[in-house]
Amino acid sequence: MWRGIEVVKNESDPKAPAHVELSEQLDDSVLMPGDVTIDVEYSSLNYKDGIALTGKPGIVREPRLIAGIDLVGVVSESTDDRYFAGQRVLVNGCGLSETHHGGYAERARVPGDWVVPVPASISNQHAAAIGTAGFTAMLSVLALERGGVTGDVLVTGAAGGVGSVAIALLSRLGFSVTASTGRAEEHDYLRQLGATTIIDRAELSVQPRALMKQRWNGAIDAVGGSTLASAIAATHYGGTVTACGNAQSSELQTSVMPFILRGVSLVGINSVFTPRALRLEAWSRLESDLDLSALEGTTSTIALSDTIAAGADIIAGRIRGRTVIDVRR
Ligand SMILES: NC(=O)c1ccc[n+]([C@@H]2O[C@H](COP(=O)([O-])OP(=O)(O)OC[C@H]3O[C@@H](n4cnc5c(N)ncnc54)[C@H](OP(=O)(O)O)[C@@H]3O)[C@@H](O)[C@H]2O)c1
Repeated sequence: MWRGIEVVKNESDPKAPAHVELSEQLDDSVLMPGDVTIDVEYSSLNYKDGIALTGKPGIVREPRLIAGIDLVGVVSESTDDRYFAGQRVLVNGCGLSETHHGGYAERARVPGDWVVPVPASISNQHAAAIGTAGFTAMLSVLALERGGVTGDVLVTGAAGGVGSVAIALLSRLGFSVTASTGRAEEHDYLRQLGATTIIDRAELSVQPRALMKQRWNGAIDAVGGSTLASAIAATHYGGTVTACGNAQSSELQTSVMPFILRGVSLVGINSVFTPRALRLEAWSRLESDLDLSALEGTTSTIALSDTIAAGADIIAGRIRGRTVIDVRR
């Protein structure tokens, strides 16, 4: 028997919040089809996990599903010859907690194509600290690099998971980072991560004119809405802005002017369906370019039994940086 956090939808009333519970009596008969069976050690808490853990609609698409969009652990059995028993592996996204049982459990079984070996110099706990948020931050940095961005870069949602890892990566890579945050008490934390300038997120929260004074060569946005519109409107000629999140809003009201007069590119980031080659590239770059001691400063670890409560905290914006879930506790 093993434990897992299950989201149980109310089938008779699809609008009602789902019931979320820590089940103590799960066994391998509940595992879904897959080539690789994993003893899960760690997962992590992402904004999307907060939505599922608070019973809100939009993430879990099965009547009953184990939550958790990330997992890190050790292979116990594999019929896919790319993996062997005892190997350290991870999965980010790929439908975990959406259509397939996720990482908030002591066991998982997944298709081999979803599995990424944990890079040799990254511990399992650090891999979970990076998790989907850090993987998404890396995908965003890769998009800026492909756009030829150098110099000044804006990071929004700075004290959150994606934002924190993006700042650590960018500063290590020599970019000069402007961090946008609503949390005055986190300015020291953001400077320690490597931000050189900090602005109040209220500055970007007002719907901007079509074109604003040019301030940065690129931006990594995790919040959407008028913040993303402001980031685009203040990007220098030829710059790149990445959009991965909607913590402020899913709406985007902008104009074509930044695109046709300044040649700005807007690049969407999706971590769930990232092709395998890009997944492996991103994890290889996380191994070479992320300062793990900076990551440690952003991370706290909680037990599986405390995870349901933490889901409400991330939705309320009360979580700083990254939270690792030790699923064996
Ligand atoms: N596309 C993908 O594949 C992908 C992958 C991962 C995450 N995401 C999305 O990216 C976003 C961030 O994820 P996360 O895990 O980093 O979440 P998180 O840790 O909760 O960070 C979100 C941050 O957004 C800022 N924020 C929250 N509400 C805001 C508002 N009303 N206005 C402006 N800023 C606000 C806060 O930063 P401050 O406190 O510093 O202001 C907060 O810490 C989420 O929308 C998530 O769903 C998408």
